[in-house]
Amino acid sequence: MSQATPSRSIWSNRWAFILVTIGSAVGLGNIWKFSYLAGASEGSVGVFIVVYLTCVALIGLPLLMAEILIGRRGRGNPVVAMLNTAEESENSSWWALLGWVGIFGALMILSYYSVVSGWMVDYFWQSLMKGIQVDTPEKASAAFNAMMTDPWRLIRWHTVFMILVTAVIARGVIGGIEAANRIMLPLLFLILVLLTLWGAVAGDMPAALRFMFNLKPEAIKPGVVIDGMGHAFFSLSLGMGAIMAYGSYLDKQTNIGHTCVWIALAGVFIGLLSGAAIFSLTFGYGLAPAAGPGLILQTLPLAFTHMPGGRVVAVFFFLLVIFAAWTSAISLLEPFVSWLTERYGIRRTRAAWATALPVWLLGVAVCLSFNRWSEFTILDRNLFNVLDHFATRFMMPLSGLAIAIYVGWRLGKVIVVDEIRLKQRVFCLWFNVLRFVVPVGITLVFLYELVLREKLG
Ligand code: PFF
Repeated sequence: MSQATPSRSIWSNRWAFILVTIGSAVGLGNIWKFSYLAGASEGSVGVFIVVYLTCVALIGLPLLMAEILIGRRGRGNPVVAMLNTAEESENSSWWALLGWVGIFGALMILSYYSVVSGWMVDYFWQSLMKGIQVDTPEKASAAFNAMMTDPWRLIRWHTVFMILVTAVIARGVIGGIEAANRIMLPLLFLILVLLTLWGAVAGDMPAALRFMFNLKPEAIKPGVVIDGMGHAFFSLSLGMGAIMAYGSYLDKQTNIGHTCVWIALAGVFIGLLSGAAIFSLTFGYGLAPAAGPGLILQTLPLAFTHMPGGRVVAVFFFLLVIFAAWTSAISLLEPFVSWLTERYGIRRTRAAWATALPVWLLGVAVCLSFNRWSEFTILDRNLFNVLDHFATRFMMPLSGLAIAIYVGWRLGKVIVVDEIRLKQRVFCLWFNVLRFVVPVGITLVFLYELVLREKLG
């Protein structure tokens, strides 16, 4: 029997939905991860970006529509939405597993996402209170390492960030999630535009663009292709139930296709813009782009120290990153919280804090994996890297693959047509891409990565 979900909220309007979904999509992924992945694939950055853009268009966009479709049709948290749609289309209830993978995967990501966001809060606080003064690369690395080797400092800011996220979720869908996005997203955009302009004036924008769009396919390193695809998933929040949960609060009239084009365009645009801003400051001050996950915390503070008005720019930059991370993190907590409230009738506030606690604990373990527990590794990776690699390289693409098969092959055309109201030709294009290109594309990227690794040992 289909599970009832009484009195569910509905976003105030179509733009509110676009706003919250962009809020989920645009996050640390676009600013922190994009810049360090691109920086790390030096020599093949162009390839990374081309793979990323291609995957957004051919895999991300169709999947985004498919996830929203399931959420809206199923009218419930990801588990219930999968159950309801599976029942309506006479499929096995085992498909609900996909919902479970999503809601637990989201919590897993949130645990380390919150730790990295905590780094940003730490740097924001430092810039605000005393300014970050690091005039040599050695000092910048020492300052970053001082934070990473201090477990209490990491845990403190991770805790602050988790409280910020949980407080928004506790206030509900409209009063919390929508309201927070309405304030933060426009501010984020404004700061980013100002920062990019500043990057163009104070930094070296032509060098940044040359670096980002330099296509040298022969310089491909293993990992670049799968990273490009994984990043398309990560930066569009796909496969983890977040988009499905947001889609479940969407009214019937909104056109899913048109809406998703806006979301994907905004995600890509903001990602490229922040990349341009970050790299133009990096090159403008003669710094190296390949600093790894610490890129924006080791390289940029140097630029901030040397530039006129750098302290103010630093405060705004870290505020921007915090806003971006915050609006994404709330979408990682929402799927499980909505499941708890809908399944057990628990009050939202309680459900939010009860969910946040174990996530916070796992995050504490992540904080310790950088210092006290750094010798515990799996395949040479600490807990932080294990969680990140597992989620972005495997869970998200595999769950995306399953969603494509479910909507493309199992759900039935009647339901799909009823939800995706596009002109027939556009519909056919989307549907065929979802049925063929997405599954084949994801599989090929996996195979390619395997072969390339074999070849390069
Ligand atoms: N899209 C977010 C970012 O780019 O930072 C991260 C994210 C949010 C991933 C929500 C997955 C998710 F379900």
